[in-house]
Amino acid sequence: MTGEPALRFITCGSVDDGKSTLIGRMLYDSAQIFEDQLAALTADSRVHGTQGDRPDLALLVDGLQAEREQGITIDVAYRFFATPRRHFIVADCPGHEQYTRNMATGASTAKLAVILVDARKGLLTQTYRHARIVALMGVKHLVLALNKMDLVAYDATVYARLTAAFQAFAAELGFTRVTAIPLSALEGDNVTAPSGRMAWYGGPTLLGHLEAVEVEGPAAEGAFRLPVQWVNRPSHDFRGYAGRIAAGRVRPGDAVRLLPSGATTRVARLVSPAGDLPEARAGDAVMLTLEDERDVSRGDVLVAADAPCQVADQFEASLVWLSENALVPGRSYRARIHTKAANASVTQLRWRLDVNTGAKLAAKTLDLNEIAEVTLSFDQPIAFEPYAACPDLGAFILVDRQTEETVGAGMIRYALRRADNVHWQALSVDAAARSAALGQTPRCIWLTGLSGAGKSTIASLLEQRLHAEGRHTYVLDGDNVRHGLNRDLGFTPEDRVENIRRVAEVARLMVDAGLVVIVSFISPYQAERDWARSLFAPGRFVEVYVDTPFDVCAERDPKGLYAKAKRGELPNFTGLDSAYEPPATPDVTLDTTALAAEACVERLLRHLGDLA
Ligand code: ADX
Repeated sequence: MTGEPALRFITCGSVDDGKSTLIGRMLYDSAQIFEDQLAALTADSRVHGTQGDRPDLALLVDGLQAEREQGITIDVAYRFFATPRRHFIVADCPGHEQYTRNMATGASTAKLAVILVDARKGLLTQTYRHARIVALMGVKHLVLALNKMDLVAYDATVYARLTAAFQAFAAELGFTRVTAIPLSALEGDNVTAPSGRMAWYGGPTLLGHLEAVEVEGPAAEGAFRLPVQWVNRPSHDFRGYAGRIAAGRVRPGDAVRLLPSGATTRVARLVSPAGDLPEARAGDAVMLTLEDERDVSRGDVLVAADAPCQVADQFEASLVWLSENALVPGRSYRARIHTKAANASVTQLRWRLDVNTGAKLAAKTLDLNEIAEVTLSFDQPIAFEPYAACPDLGAFILVDRQTEETVGAGMIRYALRRADNVHWQALSVDAAARSAALGQTPRCIWLTGLSGAGKSTIASLLEQRLHAEGRHTYVLDGDNVRHGLNRDLGFTPEDRVENIRRVAEVARLMVDAGLVVIVSFISPYQAERDWARSLFAPGRFVEVYVDTPFDVCAERDPKGLYAKAKRGELPNFTGLDSAYEPPATPDVTLDTTALAAEACVERLLRHLGDLA
């Protein structure tokens, strides 16, 4: 057995194509079935099997009872097996379109994909879909397993026809190699042993190919890249930077650059429990020390000083949507790229991929299993490589802030140049100087609540009171701002997210200018209010929940909108057919059913305290 890492591959197909039987056959024939599993298999086969007295190999793979009873495989199952020549980890994914996310997940770590085709049925829509998904996820080696050759009388012309058609289709998907193998998983032809019934075929068996195929490991020959996973500081005189080398190799004395900062230094030591190492290379987990004290944190990338990777904050990327909750363009999601944690939002949906036909479709959102080309904006500069060049530095995930669910997975294609020439301009009069000149501590007082809750009334009264005390104020009101700056926005979730993004940015500028800003917007989503808070220094953002129940607002109905909405004349109306998420932990809650507007303002003023 070699010390090489296991070959990770993915199988794509459905039960009908004999996928589980094929994997079971490989496990069985490579004698990796332990005695107890074999005994259980023989017993199970009598109950569930479809193969009479022969062990049903598919049962080895369709591990879960529920799956067996439905006769389908529903999740990504990783299985380990080995032959004397190689270790394997196979990701077994269901093939139906509703499981696209499972296939994308399985393919993301695979070096090779086996796409199963039933020789009787030929190439199907699902064959094209599977090939597109694995290509998108960066898989370079493909095996077209033409199964059930026994049912087409082991006919060489069937093989030739399907192979030619597939090669023609796959030419533009960028695979390094496509290997077509005629086989019968059920009969065992060309799976682990060459078939005597297809003398016309001179190629390898499936297992033989998997044992011999050379796939690219981590790019040992490329320039050095180490995303820092952990800064180890046990004492004042030791600082070690730990992580797994994504590309290249490193030795003590090598000049390295720290990204995104760009600072340069040299590697001092490669520390290991067994003593210092002379060299480490792609794939190795290392701890190194630097010659100079540097401010390095998790998510920074150490690179060869003379061959740095790029740093950017806006990208063109492919995105696979993994969640039942649709993508909200413009929303800030938590993002993870290599070891870096940041926030990112989709700024544009360029097109959605029809995985069956390859067509590029217009899209306003992404639903579960959908794949799109998007532009993505991070809130921090990111050291990265395009996914195609280095998957470790170009793959990212998006996580929903509220649910902590991983909602998207994507691959950076390239950085957008548009941010390149826009820099922060240092200005000599700063926020502190401006607030001192105005003699006040600026604030953003953010009123959220249903339409008609009383936000505008409270905002206006509050401003009068502050103004009378000599404060410099400004009210940003939803209805007013929607007449100017935000006149292009409606009431879809995407538009409301953009509405809040813009007004929060404006409020930030006004607070920076030294003003006490009162924002009065429905602002229905917690995610955007949290994001708005993140724009301000601690304590400068005050979230105020103007708590008026829907029925009370509908009763007051100051603008007649509730009546209209109930008649069906106002779609996407907040509280009716568009969600309102009450604040989880507001700084102040104003119950307008118990307090008159003036009393609400008194409470707010007490909360704000002295603004001088
Ligand atoms: S938000 O949801 O995007 O924050 P915003 O506060 O800007 O909303 O605008 C809300 C105002 O727009 C309401 O007070 C109401 O006058 C008006 N409006 C028009 N259509 C709707 C609708 N479908 N839902 C809620 N408000 C609406």
